[in-house]
Amino acid sequence: MPSLQWSDELALAHPEMDHTHQEFVQLLGEAEDALLQSKEAGLARYEALVAHTVGHFGQEDRWMVATGFAVENCHSSQHHQVLELMKEVVRLAKEKDDYGPLTRVLPELANWFTQHAQTMDAALASHLQQIGFDPATGSIAHPLPTQADPVTGCGGGSCLPAEDTAAAGTAA
Ligand SMILES: [Fe+2]
Ligand SMILES: [Fe+2]
Repeated sequence: MPSLQWSDELALAHPEMDHTHQEFVQLLGEAEDALLQSKEAGLARYEALVAHTVGHFGQEDRWMVATGFAVENCHSSQHHQVLELMKEVVRLAKEKDDYGPLTRVLPELANWFTQHAQTMDAALASHLQQIGFDPATGSIAHPLPTQADPVTGCGGGSCLPAEDTAAAGTAA
């Protein structure tokens, strides 16, 4: 049984984000299944998850920048930290033949994702809906009043200290 399964509790009523998140959940489960077959198969499916996550995080980061967030906002910073950690797991397996982190990171990513989706992504989805952002065209139906400074927080009270966010998947 995979560590993470799609449920209404993960849904954000944002079709594009929900679709990407369903793919994340699917790929995470496939990596766990493959790891039961062999470490090489698990690594291959995990690399597919990493590649998907590059696009997943990049998409959200672009939406944030397009709608008034600073490039270095806390949500994007967490994306960066988690992605670097995910890539390090690949490096350790390939260069050091150390598959321990790969085994441990999958359930930790499941826990991290649930929390991330329900806080930072939920706040982003709410923000995008509030301003009427169209991901297909980049248009904004209801722009917020012009702000003096780009947004650096995540909204929704979901900013976490860096050491907490960096802990996702690092308890190796
Ligand atoms: Fe996301
Ligand atoms: Fe996110």
